[in-house]
Amino acid sequence: MDAVNDSHRDWDAESYEALQLRYNAALKLIMTRMEILNDELQEVHRYNPIEHIKGRIKTPESIVKKLRRHGVESTLDNMIEYCNDLAGIRIICSFTSDIYRIAEMISAQDDITVLSVKDYIVNPKPSGYKSYHMIVTVPVYLSNRCDQVKVEIQIRTVAMDFWASLEHKINYKFEGNAPDRISLELIDCAKMVSELDAKMLELNNEILEISEQNENKNK
Ligand code: GTP
Ligand code: MG
Repeated sequence: MDAVNDSHRDWDAESYEALQLRYNAALKLIMTRMEILNDELQEVHRYNPIEHIKGRIKTPESIVKKLRRHGVESTLDNMIEYCNDLAGIRIICSFTSDIYRIAEMISAQDDITVLSVKDYIVNPKPSGYKSYHMIVTVPVYLSNRCDQVKVEIQIRTVAMDFWASLEHKINYKFEGNAPDRISLELIDCAKMVSELDAKMLELNNEILEISEQNENKNK
């Protein structure tokens, strides 16, 4: 049996590569779908909800860590079962309302199955984390079969993303035990993020209303 590398020496390299190929394909597929949606909305409605999209495949090191956290053996079967975020995309939007629009459009695509949704915007985490999470499956067509492959989709605003990156960096630095003062400041920042998002949405709606009125006047 080939070893993928030292820390994952139980994984059969060929099977791991075959799995990676599927998850990579699923990632590409979802990313392209999102780009197409954004292009269409831009072309037809002059509306550009997606600021940018990031995608990544989980590293073997993080997979092993996650399986350990779940208290299960580091096998490929467990990886498929327990790691919903082997393939993950992050969709960054301008406004909170865009998040729900995009989530609806994803759910409406016939061949995408939504397995679960976590709305950390309505129910933020105690850390202050806000984001909209979906676990979906997409069909990946191979030469002799079709596999339903899981992808984690995180949808958030630019402001939520800014907060999450800093919070992630801090937690990484302090290995999850940040000093109380910093955690409290972060919770405070999360409140500011929510206020900023609400204010920006309100402003944008006002701008849209004014442009509509002007258009009607000019008709
Ligand atoms: P994981 O095992 O960490 O994937 O969590 P989970 O399976 O319980 O799912 P959950 O929806 O809580 O989190 C999934 C992902 O959301 C994480 O891997 C992070 O990318 C992100 N996330 C969740 N909570 C936080 C948080 O408090 N701060 C930051 N920065 N990111 C978070
Ligand atoms: Mg994760």
